[in-house]
Amino acid sequence: MKNIYLIGFMGTGKSSVGRLLAEDLGASYVDTDQMVIEKTGREITNIFEEDSEEDFRRLETEVLSEVVDKENLVVSTGGGIVVTMGNLEAMRQTGFVVTLIADANTILERISSDETCRPLLEVEEPFEEIKRLLFERASFYINAHHIVDTSDITPREAAD
Ligand code: S3P
Repeated sequence: MKNIYLIGFMGTGKSSVGRLLAEDLGASYVDTDQMVIEKTGREITNIFEEDSEEDFRRLETEVLSEVVDKENLVVSTGGGIVVTMGNLEAMRQTGFVVTLIADANTILERISSDETCRPLLEVEEPFEEIKRLLFERASFYINAHHIVDTSDITPREAAD
């Protein structure tokens, strides 16, 4: 099986859906954020704060280049992986790319209630920042093979 790549904004369910999908398909599951953490031995927030977003983008591109050479993977990606030139094309050429989308209110609700630290949303007005980033990234996210709106469905339903 060619890889399946889950792309999309923070809080759209990439990790939960990816795990279920991998289980359903008997495929291996990987998460590019997790790969960066394992590769560097550091938390993503620390990379953003002590180094820079640019350094993080370089690291996530490096780990992506490791997975595009493989097969039979369900790959959950960090929400911003698409902004680095060449990443979306690399995924499109080596697998099936699915964007998970959700409306801004749902995203805010989900990211407020889960444990993951999102340095890009540690701002005074996270809702405004979510809308701004969604707008900025929309042209990348729509360029997938398939799009699933997870706003009103469970991860199980999205995986199905
Ligand atoms: C980011 C999304 C995060 C993580 C980092 C940057 C982004 O991953 O890669 O904080 O730029 O949208 P999730 O989409 O898994 O939250």
